[in-house]
Amino acid sequence: MNQDLITEIRNKVDIVDIISERIPLVAKGKNFFGVCPFHEDTNPSMSVSREKQIFRCFSCGASGNVFTFLMDYDHKSFKEVLKDLGSRVGVNTSSISVNNVSTKYDKLYEAYNISEKYYQNNLNSKEGRLAREYLYKRKLDEDVIKEFGVGLSLDNRDNLVKLLQNKKYDLATLNQIGLAIDDHDTYMNRIMFPLHDTYGKIVGFSGRIYKTEDKSNGKYVNTKETIIFKKGSCLYHYHIAKDVCRTTKSVIVMEGFMDVIRASTIGIRNTVALMGTALTTEQIKLLKRLSNNIILCLDGDNPGKEAALKNGKLLLDEGLEVKIALLPNPDDPDTYIINNGKEKFISLISSAVNYSDYKIEKLKENVNFNSEEDLSKYINNVLEETVKIDDEIRVEIILKKLAKDYNIGYNTLEKRFNALKAEKPLKETVKVEIKHPRNKRKDKYIQAMEQIIYFMVNNNDWVIESVANENIIYPTNNERLLTSEIIYYYKKNRGFSLADFYTYLQDKPDLLNFLNEIINSNYIEKVEKKDLFTYFKVLKDYSKTKQIERLEEKLKKENNPDIQAEIAEQIRKLKLGE
Ligand code: UTP
Ligand code: MN
Repeated sequence: MNQDLITEIRNKVDIVDIISERIPLVAKGKNFFGVCPFHEDTNPSMSVSREKQIFRCFSCGASGNVFTFLMDYDHKSFKEVLKDLGSRVGVNTSSISVNNVSTKYDKLYEAYNISEKYYQNNLNSKEGRLAREYLYKRKLDEDVIKEFGVGLSLDNRDNLVKLLQNKKYDLATLNQIGLAIDDHDTYMNRIMFPLHDTYGKIVGFSGRIYKTEDKSNGKYVNTKETIIFKKGSCLYHYHIAKDVCRTTKSVIVMEGFMDVIRASTIGIRNTVALMGTALTTEQIKLLKRLSNNIILCLDGDNPGKEAALKNGKLLLDEGLEVKIALLPNPDDPDTYIINNGKEKFISLISSAVNYSDYKIEKLKENVNFNSEEDLSKYINNVLEETVKIDDEIRVEIILKKLAKDYNIGYNTLEKRFNALKAEKPLKETVKVEIKHPRNKRKDKYIQAMEQIIYFMVNNNDWVIESVANENIIYPTNNERLLTSEIIYYYKKNRGFSLADFYTYLQDKPDLLNFLNEIINSNYIEKVEKKDLFTYFKVLKDYSKTKQIERLEEKLKKENNPDIQAEIAEQIRKLKLGE
């Protein structure tokens, strides 16, 4: 592939822009920091450098340039990423052909696009009158219908299947991607909501019954799991929320589509819907990318309240800030907004309570406060909840309130609290331990060589020239290989750019990993000539030590006293540094 084209594209995009479109970044000094998407992270361990155009995570060791980031984050091939970025910055990438795998997928995505248009046309047709009336009755006007791509599947048995077959889709494929069952359409007589993946591509549909007499197969029917639609890693409206959440700094989690759609009509768009499932690990990961502040606004009925408790705990355990927005029973956000309007809903969201306060309030239910046993159990439960709170002041407020409400000595409560706290494994300490484990076990020669490589990729020209002119004995093979790649790259390109070097190395994953490891170790960044030579000296000592070791081995095996004497003399000279 054309190296100049790659470099041109990389030079035209800013890694900070690209990453901050996906993850909230905060500027600190020269760099930007965010929560790393490549491991289970809650701290901002990932730094992004505008100057160097690279990112690195101090905690998991991921690092690379803008291409690497997008390949891993968007699960795309290098060529796909190049094409995306190229079209974004106006660089012609028609010379790059993407491989068959992605064109096969493109064809599947296209089938959903065709279906969406087909469903939309149906809704606007004569046969769509009843469905349109249903939607208007639910206070969804033309604009919203358009915005959310709402459509309609008809009574016909196989209209969509026929349409797609005419466009060269075979039945097997249509069955595979959930648009057909045997030889007929999957959806009939339903209002159709397209479902999008995190990038906004349609990956399936959810169809809702709308005729009162219709009692078939559940209220909503979703596309089955396919190669491109995984229900557990889908959040409705995510592709829109991901842009909005950067400014709102919070995300509101709701239960259903209609809730999200309704909120959108009053201009609240930092929302996603769970689509009726229990919150999955993948969904939590996705939420983390949106914001650290999660507001659960689930239905006000009992299942909704239960779900708030359960999901809130899962999110809290992942280190997220969780608040609960309480709807009156039996409202859901949709009905609440219809009945109470925008202002009331906004104030409901802004008065959302902390998860732990909510939990403590819930613990009161079914407690008989006249029973000493119940009361003591309740207090213990509250304390166990309080232990999870990171904020000392809030903890004190809770303990004081408990002491006052139930007439218990504050010290007694505090003692019990401290005992419980001591039982909890401290997440934080674990985290500190996994940071920079790498420098420890290495001997000083390896460290010296890695430090030199670190200088090479950060200080460039004169360091690389010096290393190229130095006769280095490398402690390990990886170091030798990586150094020679750096020198080769430098000479070929008459200069060195770490961000581009990442791309150059991508066909050599072992060396790339090794480079990442070095980049993420605690090495010194800036170097002066004399420092560099100090490190060369350490390596020279290394080669001497090696030589001595070899000679001593030889000496042991040697029987001839004359040769023995000769070797001993060589060893003596080496040790004296002659
Ligand atoms: P709800 O029943 O709360 O949906 O289920 P809703 O948004 O209030 O729907 P309307 O107002 O009756 O139209 C919440 C979510 O659970 C999923 C859907 O994703 C829905 O949005 N669900 C619900 C299903 O997948 N299948 C069902 O049969 C029902
Ligand atoms: Mn609902």
